Amino acid sequence: MISKELLDTVTWSRKVLTCIEDLSLREINEVFALADMFKAELKGDKTKLGYLRGKTVVSLFFEPSTRTRTAFEMAAHKLGADVISVASNVSSSVKGETLKDTARNIEALMSDMIIVRHSCAGAAQYLAERVKIPVINAGDGAHAHPTQALLDTFTMREKFNGNFKGKKITILGDILFSRVARSDIQALNKLGASVTLAGPSTLVPREFEKLGVKICYDLESAVADADVVMLLRIQHERQSSLHFPSISEYANVFGLNKRRESLLKPGAFIMHPGPINRGVELDSFLADSGRSVILNQVTNGVAVRMAVMKLCMAAARR
Ligand code: CP
Repeated sequence: MISKELLDTVTWSRKVLTCIEDLSLREINEVFALADMFKAELKGDKTKLGYLRGKTVVSLFFEPSTRTRTAFEMAAHKLGADVISVASNVSSSVKGETLKDTARNIEALMSDMIIVRHSCAGAAQYLAERVKIPVINAGDGAHAHPTQALLDTFTMREKFNGNFKGKKITILGDILFSRVARSDIQALNKLGASVTLAGPSTLVPREFEKLGVKICYDLESAVADADVVMLLRIQHERQSSLHFPSISEYANVFGLNKRRESLLKPGAFIMHPGPINRGVELDSFLADSGRSVILNQVTNGVAVRMAVMKLCMAAARR
């Protein structure tokens, strides 16, 4: 059972989660504490917990997803909720229905929560302002992916024994088009880690320095003292033109591969939000090596999303 003391001291009062920017450090730590408990509960008993029994969660994905959608739906099931999955390619959005109408119809069907992914930045907030039920952003354009940042930092926290002070995180790849990078930077800043962004200058613009991070265009220096190297794939779907000469040249200059493992500190971890483009930003040797915590990220995604869903649903009842 979740401890009563934890629930009694929770300050989380938001039924909507669209970005990390809005969260206080305390709220982030509340998600972590609840996720710790769910993770322990799931380890002991893989059957359903009953915290959201009788509730219906609708997952509304207008972009492809493997990890986020499955983890949210699994999290809802584990909490005892019913889950309805709306595939955008067979929803009435293809007949011209607006996002507002789609959302309000889902609410009219007596749903209790909407999980939404959309290619437009701001879509989750737009939707949340048009319904009364809780809404969680599962990724909106290049804007935000808050639960990914929470599961990424939850995974780091496990590896750092809870202490982010003095830890150096390098995020390497397509920063410009990445909602994960933006959300991770915000979460890591709040937790007290130092962030370096690396990659080609076309994908790592200097404007990001305003977010309180370092920028480095040289792979060797960028990864040399990192405790974690987080790789990001090239987001071709958000780029209208190529930002580097070719995929093979990108891999040659910025790809993390077996040959470059010697650049990493002993004990440095490799992370990736997925999907991996093997052989481009990361080769299989490293992706599947002992340094990789990529699958730990995926596993932690369930407990972290259980925590977020429980907190948002509880806030809606108050
Ligand atoms: N990390 C992530 O968002 O993966 P999916 O696109 O598979 O959900």
